[in-house]
Amino acid sequence: MTERARPYDNPFDLHDEPAYQRWRAGKLERLAGGDDFPIVAIADVNQLQEAEIAALLRQLQRCNMAIYDTGAEGFADKEFVRRLGRHFGLTRLDGNPYSDEDDISSITVKPRDQGALYIPYTDRPISWHTDGYYNAPEVQVRSFILHCARPAARGGENRLLDPELAYIHLRDENPDYISALMAEDAMSIPANEVNDFVSRPLQSGPVFSVQADGTLHMRFTARKRHVIWREDAMLARARDCLSALLDSDSRFIYRHRLDAGQGLIANNVLHSRSAFEDGTGTEEARLLYRARYHDRIKGTGMAEFTEAI
Ligand SMILES: [Fe+2]
Repeated sequence: MTERARPYDNPFDLHDEPAYQRWRAGKLERLAGGDDFPIVAIADVNQLQEAEIAALLRQLQRCNMAIYDTGAEGFADKEFVRRLGRHFGLTRLDGNPYSDEDDISSITVKPRDQGALYIPYTDRPISWHTDGYYNAPEVQVRSFILHCARPAARGGENRLLDPELAYIHLRDENPDYISALMAEDAMSIPANEVNDFVSRPLQSGPVFSVQADGTLHMRFTARKRHVIWREDAMLARARDCLSALLDSDSRFIYRHRLDAGQGLIANNVLHSRSAFEDGTGTEEARLLYRARYHDRIKGTGMAEFTEAI
């Protein structure tokens, strides 16, 4: 008996059209089998209930993201974020130079010398991206939790898109787009130099890749500056197709402005943020906690998917 490399087919293999069609049908069926985007209520932040975890997982299995609402006005507790992550097998936090010492970042408007060179720490809009697109291959961000302690006075809305749906859109349009986006050097981020000190080397990699666990991973930024795209006509067309989708009012794109006590848990989905305006006084500054992980959310693997369809 020949042993198969994986206990399931690889729907992301361009040479396996039947596997793709099976996965695609299952994915879209699962997506249709639920409300548009239910917000899961968490009754007691100190005691997550099994039904709440199950409701979040159901939503995560549909579209790789879920929004919860602790109902606690202005509830802010990094320990809750950490605990929630652990329920979903998320333990390997990704560090960054501007995160607090426990590797969960407090995202708020900061003075220039404390990181305001980086757009997340300003009130400016952030274009579509996945988190950690400049990370080395072995430390890709597979998931994140974004918890809102305090919303802005105005603005700060997120747009969200499941990368698997972006993949389906592109592959249905032209499978060659996928090959171009899977090239090992499709998208490079130049070294990050601050005062001649290179703090991060150049990172080159694909936009779409299949991880060792068989799941799809996406690495992308819509930024125009500090990004080097491989010179390839097909890749340029693929990017145009993706940009058109991201700028559209596709029903696959969710829009949500996190309220106080609400949060998003996701398998590093594509997201953008609109500009915002804080109220006057320091107490009113928008504050989000962000935890980025090297783990994918437990229960959202290909094995669970195959079992379900
Ligand atoms: Fe982000």
